[in-house]
Amino acid sequence: MVIVMGPEATETDIASVVSLVETAGGEAFVSRGVARTIVGLVGDVQQFGSLNLRSLPGVRDVIRISVPYKLVSRENHPERSVVRVGGVPIGPGTMTLIAGPCAVETPEQTLQAAQMAKAAGATLLRGGAFKPRTSPYAFQGLGEKGLRILADVREETGLPIVTEVVDAHDVELVASYADMLQIGTRNAQNFALLQAAGDVGKPVMLKRGMSGTIEEWLMAAEYVAQRGNLDIVLCERGIRTFEKATRNTLDISAVPVAQRLSHLPVIVDPSHSGGRRDLVLPLTKAAIAIGADGVIIDVHPHPETALCDGPQALVDGDLRELARLVRDLPPIFDRALTEAP
Ligand code: E4P
Ligand code: PEP
Repeated sequence: MVIVMGPEATETDIASVVSLVETAGGEAFVSRGVARTIVGLVGDVQQFGSLNLRSLPGVRDVIRISVPYKLVSRENHPERSVVRVGGVPIGPGTMTLIAGPCAVETPEQTLQAAQMAKAAGATLLRGGAFKPRTSPYAFQGLGEKGLRILADVREETGLPIVTEVVDAHDVELVASYADMLQIGTRNAQNFALLQAAGDVGKPVMLKRGMSGTIEEWLMAAEYVAQRGNLDIVLCERGIRTFEKATRNTLDISAVPVAQRLSHLPVIVDPSHSGGRRDLVLPLTKAAIAIGADGVIIDVHPHPETALCDGPQALVDGDLRELARLVRDLPPIFDRALTEAP
């Protein structure tokens, strides 16, 4: 951490900063320039945070050098992590396809979507039983009944389940069915939910907030990690921009940026990014080419009757192309499609 003193700072101001830092167990190195004095701090940054240094007389700025997300950062964990979900690895060297219906609607629809997903090469099944909807009048999901359907479909297909939890009170319930908990864009900074998810010992897939910076996303992951759970997968799902031609703007550069800043796997959701069926395969190509550790894709046997997000769901006809992409592209980029364990 570096403290920049203002030109008006007196020797007494500088001495007060040094003494406060030393009292907190740190070391302070004063460097006097022609116009400015800066003080370099060495020691526990969290400790310095509580000193309220910015409010001291003569202090102009306090600059953090190290990142604030310690546990998920690559600074302290240079090797990229692999997260295992029901035995399926997500992480470096592989490309994992997660697919399934946006929402669980009926046992038949969920099973058909899961079979479509599996035929395309998916090793994990997605499907929402608790749906975060903009409108309170829109389909909110089947709740626990939906979780039971997912568990039956897992039994039938062998695909482990990724499903969303939207309320901290439901975390234990959802975790009792799920192989990986999903925290969606709307809850990306719901800190009580993040902490509760970190407590239950299941992997967590954390989507980026729709207007969230990469640092906010990693700080959200830090909430989960701080509870002792480092099995976190980050998911870039598009951000809100001025552009209206797509549902969201896929921030493709967030993938390598997050992978360089954090050791956690980073996947992409091309369905919620583009919001349109015709964009899902091009965005999937981009995700694989840039090095995403996986993609999560909506599929539906009859999107015209879907209760949520039908326009972005892949249908049977698209699956051959999806299967080809996930089989042929990853090896070109030194990765293999993740296979069932
Ligand atoms: C999807 O999975 C979400 O629940 C969905 O994108 C919500 O969006 P909407 O409620 O605005 O349709
Ligand atoms: C979802 O994947 O079901 C979902 C709700 O996505 P997001 O949180 O990215 O909108």
